Amino acid sequence: MLATMGAMGLAPTAAQAAEREPVFRAPRTGDFTLKGRAAAKVVIVGGGIAGLASAYELGKAGYDCTVLEARDRTGGRNFTVRGADSTSDTCGNRQTARFSDGQYMNAGPARIPQWMITLDYCRELGVPIEVFTNSNASAYLYNEKSGMTAPVRYRTAKADMYGYVSELLAKATDKGALDGAITADDQEQLLEFLKSFGDIGDTLTYTGSEHRGFTVDPGAAGTPGVELGAVPTVSQVLSTGVGRYFSFEFGYDQAMLMFQPIGGMDRIPAALTKAIGSHRIRTGAVVSGITDTAHGVAVTYQQGGRTRAIEADYCIAALPPHILAKTPHNLGSAVQTALEAVTPVSSGKIGLEYRSRWWEEQQQIYGGITETDMDLSHIWYPSYGFHGQRGVIIGYYNTGTNADTYAALSPADREKRSVAQGVKIHGDVYRTELATSFSHHWRQTPHLLGAWHSLKGGPDAATYAPLNRAAGHVYFAGDYLSYADAWQHGAFSSARKVVTTLHERVLA
Ligand code: PHE
Repeated sequence: MLATMGAMGLAPTAAQAAEREPVFRAPRTGDFTLKGRAAAKVVIVGGGIAGLASAYELGKAGYDCTVLEARDRTGGRNFTVRGADSTSDTCGNRQTARFSDGQYMNAGPARIPQWMITLDYCRELGVPIEVFTNSNASAYLYNEKSGMTAPVRYRTAKADMYGYVSELLAKATDKGALDGAITADDQEQLLEFLKSFGDIGDTLTYTGSEHRGFTVDPGAAGTPGVELGAVPTVSQVLSTGVGRYFSFEFGYDQAMLMFQPIGGMDRIPAALTKAIGSHRIRTGAVVSGITDTAHGVAVTYQQGGRTRAIEADYCIAALPPHILAKTPHNLGSAVQTALEAVTPVSSGKIGLEYRSRWWEEQQQIYGGITETDMDLSHIWYPSYGFHGQRGVIIGYYNTGTNADTYAALSPADREKRSVAQGVKIHGDVYRTELATSFSHHWRQTPHLLGAWHSLKGGPDAATYAPLNRAAGHVYFAGDYLSYADAWQHGAFSSARKVVTTLHERVLA
């Protein structure tokens, strides 16, 4: 029947399925028919994407799920900041965002590749999406430490690097350096490619190209445009290190097109929360103990100054592993050792709201990312609200020690530092048009204490085996137990895996 349905386009054909393994089959109430089994009671610790996805999928088969979330909102690191939102961090900083109506920053996840199942959940949950601009030829590169004194547009840097690389390879080919490696015919084809890729012409020499851009853009008859001049030497191009950014967009995770939910990334946890039912979710519930018992689990938590307890058949621990490691449990020393081997990583962002969209009006940048070796690391231009009155730029998005440098500052000094660096790229407008800012650091965020994780050897290393199976009645879920750490896809896939094995066990 499936084959017939496949032929009619009503079910995936084998060929389609093979292209996109593994296929997840959500639990259904019908699975219990004639099995003499019933949906179980499950307590889920952590209301981030992994926890919410677990409750959502199990809910499809009628499982009685309760989600315990320590913060006052669901979503975990999926956090969109809008005007009037407040945060406190572990350093004692308290901030309230002053963004104007319709403006927001995604403090956590902000871009979704086309292949990730996050988009499948957007489709299923009715969360509308729009394109997120991850690479933009008009954005800048600026390597101050390598001696650059002015920013250069991506397109210009690429034209120069690809131009010289093509010239060098073409000349080597011409000198017979590849004779032993490829045939004469293949060398012909290679030269054809290099001529167009590097725009080096029949002379096989790079002397600049319209790929670099124009100082006067081409227009009406009589206005052919003026190409950007002052072509740097090959040595200048190599020494500035601009080429180090070019492979980013080849990454399977980072290649365009990419997407974002319209209105903010937190539309995803909001839709999951609604689908699960808010009566199943307890916020402000800080778990203080997880005990595996003979027939199930007992979980204690603090809520509103009181200790509460909940019992269930199963538990899915979907909280950060480094926080679970500090929570009393009886899941054994192998579990504890594995949890302690997961290292949290720092990352932070600042949202800078501007009174005008000068980057569009004056600098012709519509979304995308500027790269620099200054400690702000990345500047993101907004992929929403084009041609609107105001806009929010991500003034830094950095990780590791760069993030720690900013985290140690007061919110006002974070703004000062990032603006001083941004002025070097964009000029004074970067300071004069600024209206307000809001910064967020994950390592300093209560109940999360990390942006993502580092697992030596990956999630399938022997150290982590105790987390990839149930410890009694307790399962573990989270992006850290996936090959897509730091992506919602990792949380969704990990949740699907746990839901599948738990459901199979209940049915057995
Ligand atoms: N997913 C995050 C991002 O896209 C973190 C990340 C960056 C993960 C780069 C992998 C590679 O910014």
